[in-house]
Amino acid sequence: MVNIAIFASGNGTNAENITRYFKNSNTVKVATLFTGNPKAGVLSRMEPYGVPCRIFSREQWNDPIDIVNELHRLDINLIVLAGFMSMVHTPIIEAVKGNIINIHPSLLPKFGGKGMWGMNVHKAVIEAGETQSGITIHYVTEEIDNGTILCQRSCPVMPDDTPESLAKRVHELEYEAFPAIIEQLAEKL
Ligand code: GAR
Repeated sequence: MVNIAIFASGNGTNAENITRYFKNSNTVKVATLFTGNPKAGVLSRMEPYGVPCRIFSREQWNDPIDIVNELHRLDINLIVLAGFMSMVHTPIIEAVKGNIINIHPSLLPKFGGKGMWGMNVHKAVIEAGETQSGITIHYVTEEIDNGTILCQRSCPVMPDDTPESLAKRVHELEYEAFPAIIEQLAEKL
């Protein structure tokens, strides 16, 4: 069994989609969800699936010994960042031997890096007059949005798009691609 820890900070529609996808799997288990945000919508989304959630403080994320211990205790093989908005430090990456991936709502390297998360990304894409956007799933390193790319999918940006309408189109790509990529990776673990 490959045990996944999802890290998420906000609404958690991706976290829920992944959890639903693997609900009856014999090979992949969403074993836990970690967050730094006690008010994150993702916490109630996990409830119906019985996924245990842990909330860690800013200090614990900055000096992640407790988080690393918990990853080992739960025998986590893969970490999935699904709308996770904090830095991930090296001890966490090492705790899962580099098996940690993120989803980003643009075609990296465009619209990545500091401050580029969630709706900020879609606003920037529209302001730049892009005709294409999409998603990138990549390995996580200490450098934001810079690890090896596993998958990219694109979608059009319509002339009348708002950040919200673009976000909806990008989310659809995420829901389709992310569980499939996780499944592929899990097969190799
Ligand atoms: C997703 O679109 C994800 O790609 C993005 O946050 C959204 C979370 O939505 N992640 C980042 O911007 C990371 N830099 P969700 O909470 O509904 O899954």
